[in-house]
Amino acid sequence: MTEKVVLAYSGGLDTSVAIPYLAEQLDAEVIAVAIDVGQGGEDLDAIRERALGCGAVAAEVVDAREEFAAEYCFPAVAANALYMDRYPLVSALSRPLIVKHLVAAAQKHGATIVSHGCTGKGNDQVRFEAGLAALAPHLKIVAPARDFAWTRDKAIAFAEEKNLPIDVTTKSPYSIDQNLWGRAVETGFLEDIWNGPIEDIYAYSDDPAAPREADEVVITFESGRPVALDGARKSAFDLVDELNRRAGAQGIGRIDMVEDRLVGIKSREVYESPAGIALIAAHMELENVTLEREQARFKRGVDQRWGELAYDGLWYSPLKTSLEAFIADTQTHVNGEVRLSLHAGKATVTGRRSDTGLYDFDLATYDEGDTFDQSNARGFVELWSLPSKLAAARNERAKAEDAA
Ligand code: ARG
Repeated sequence: MTEKVVLAYSGGLDTSVAIPYLAEQLDAEVIAVAIDVGQGGEDLDAIRERALGCGAVAAEVVDAREEFAAEYCFPAVAANALYMDRYPLVSALSRPLIVKHLVAAAQKHGATIVSHGCTGKGNDQVRFEAGLAALAPHLKIVAPARDFAWTRDKAIAFAEEKNLPIDVTTKSPYSIDQNLWGRAVETGFLEDIWNGPIEDIYAYSDDPAAPREADEVVITFESGRPVALDGARKSAFDLVDELNRRAGAQGIGRIDMVEDRLVGIKSREVYESPAGIALIAAHMELENVTLEREQARFKRGVDQRWGELAYDGLWYSPLKTSLEAFIADTQTHVNGEVRLSLHAGKATVTGRRSDTGLYDFDLATYDEGDTFDQSNARGFVELWSLPSKLAAARNERAKAEDAA
């Protein structure tokens, strides 16, 4: 029986060419699977037709937009996930979801091989394959770009030779990955890390420096999950989608950074994640109001590890599951509203309210009639400073002995 390959299909040149190429190299039937994670752009029927036109025996398009928003983006909000304190994990969040759907397709079609278009230099190969190792270790993996040293030029030559129904002329100088959570742009002139990004490379956000009126939005959270904008409840996808437009119109969410890839390379990346940056800013502030101090301090370290695990392709790992149990427990009381001013490239918190918060006006106020008993403070500070006081006295003694 001919073997079957499930290919993670984007509709682009490389994965289109991979269809006949894999069929030839592996003497196998190719099933193209495209996952809609809100990347927009091309019509999904056109993508399906192209896959079939390139020789796929079957082509499927999975609408995973709501699932992506609710089960991948929102957990990242709960974890305030910013890799290297900046990158909201745009590509890293989508890969484990894509893997999940590839595995389902492989099961459905009886495929024994899974294929993806990643090169050997990036994180995405790791995310695909570590995900597959966790969910379906019996599947073989073939990555033509990496394993058969496939290049752009070879792909174009092959496409022309086979007369594939794809346009080989519209080649972007950048490598772009995009989804509901944002956009990642790399390569081209950006590889010189002194070169500033040009306005052209952005698609989700307008120039932050352009003069315009500020926008204001109120985001409602329940147990750490965003549920409404300006009081109107929305599905996870719609909420992120609308906020992308509003925050993007104010130039919010642009990030230009040099990043540590898992494979050891430092790479220049330009991102835009308008909703991602706005939601994380709002969520962090609501945590400031609702989390007990020690829990909040400890969670910062947990958040950082969570982000690193997601970045490093360990989405389906035991440590991530364990950290999520902690995070879920912390989110119980993260309820309330945060008001953001969206303007000039920044999402600035201007107000917060919560029925489950720990902010106590009567304790905090400097006005008459506060409930804070200041007489307790003297003894508290005395004992709090005692260890330092003892150490300082010891150091003085030691200095005096050295001098003698
Ligand atoms: N460096 C980013 C990451 O590892 C973005 C990767 C984008 N992928 C791409 N194929 N252009 O998450």
